[in-house]
Amino acid sequence: MDKFYHITTYGCQMNVHESEKIAGILSSLGYKSCENIEDADIAVFNTCCIRENAENHAFGNIGMLKKLKAKKRDMIIAVGGCLTQQIGKADILHKKFPYVDIIFGTHNLNKLAEYILKRQGGKKTVIEIEQGNGEICEEDKPLRTSYPNAWINITYGCNNFCSYCIVPYVRGRERSRRSENIIAEAKSLIAEGYKEITLLGQNVNSYNNGTDDISFPELLTSIANINGKFRLRFMTSHPKDFSAELAEVIAGNAKICNNVHLPVQSGSNAVLKAMNRRYTREEYIKKIETLKKYVPDCAITTDLIVGFPGETEQDFEDTLSLVREVGFSSAFTFVYSKRNGTVAANMENQIPEDVSKDRIMRLVELINSNTREQSLKYVGRTVEILCEDYDGKRGLYLGRDEYGRMAYFESSTNVIGEFLNVKIKSANGVSLAGEIVKD
Ligand code: SAH
Ligand code: SF4
Ligand code: F3S
Repeated sequence: MDKFYHITTYGCQMNVHESEKIAGILSSLGYKSCENIEDADIAVFNTCCIRENAENHAFGNIGMLKKLKAKKRDMIIAVGGCLTQQIGKADILHKKFPYVDIIFGTHNLNKLAEYILKRQGGKKTVIEIEQGNGEICEEDKPLRTSYPNAWINITYGCNNFCSYCIVPYVRGRERSRRSENIIAEAKSLIAEGYKEITLLGQNVNSYNNGTDDISFPELLTSIANINGKFRLRFMTSHPKDFSAELAEVIAGNAKICNNVHLPVQSGSNAVLKAMNRRYTREEYIKKIETLKKYVPDCAITTDLIVGFPGETEQDFEDTLSLVREVGFSSAFTFVYSKRNGTVAANMENQIPEDVSKDRIMRLVELINSNTREQSLKYVGRTVEILCEDYDGKRGLYLGRDEYGRMAYFESSTNVIGEFLNVKIKSANGVSLAGEIVKD
């Protein structure tokens, strides 16, 4: 009889890719993926703790499995991801959800098969968390689920300790994979027919800092030089490490997308300092100018936080003015969320919820109107889209251009994985709609 697994993923692209690694492990044990958690013999929750609501979301969903587990006693429930790496959280999870079978961390997800066998062998609850930095596993065999896109980890962890952020505590110090392994992985993905490679790390620009291996711009160049038609992306870049050399490499390689995610977080120097971001507003703008000098059409996206402790109305307005000045093509916006154990959690002047809510609404409005304005400029133009998926509800295929803009279009045949010329007919906020132009 077939055995099934179901994975629920929270958080960032890093976690999405790690869920592919978990899927690889489960399929090597003979499990197949299923749509509904009710049908699963193994249910995995790959959690995130970047903000309180990410954490609550996971807690809520794990809680909902209590009834199912009471009916399906042999079902295995496993909880992994960043949440479990917080000091003391594994015990809290175990007490709150005693029916969870396996609790594992991000550093040891490659041992999940062993934990499942232990549990099936009769061990009551398997709780295995490794603190510290974790070994790099170069032998992962992810079961990729996002053709034609593929993700490759290049670094793990983070050394930056932005004062609001939990990532360095749950992911450990930054460590880089060997470039020869990354390049070999990229080569084999391209040979298999993947059309877009995204290099992943918390701060890709500091790849190999302090090692004798190649730098990030050199790594990008080596991958861009692999034969074949494909796109190359990377995230995330930290502005303090973003160099003119990198901008030059983007400009010099057609395969590297002219689309850079450069999280600024705030437009106020006082807030940036308190966040420990290690750049000023002026330095950030200078980096953008350098990038635009080399790559004039570069689409720049960002992350912004409102309601950081001590943020005044003037500080917030500085963020609005920075957004206007840079003209981001889109942005992720967040209300500051207090994370225990971080420096900012102990700062005075935590901002009341109603003030943060008002600020995020104003910010989102500005971002949306910028994005809409930029989308409208597309109408009438023909752009090259890499088709990524089919939206069954709309009956339309979808994909993105090199700048990351999403477009929907019709096709009578399956065009997923193809580069297509699409003439844009209309723009609806962030996304576009058009039709394929045959040449
Ligand atoms: N390493 C990346 C992104 C990490 S998390 C970087 O430094 O850019 C993604 C985003 O979540 C961050 O850019 C930040 O905007 C947001 N974030 C992180 N911690 C947060 C917190 N405590 N509250 C609200 N947003 C947060
Ligand atoms: Fe968090 Fe800052 Fe590291 Fe990004 S760079 S993961 S925001 S500590
Ligand atoms: Fe990512 Fe969330 Fe962990 S954003 S690194 S999954 S805390």
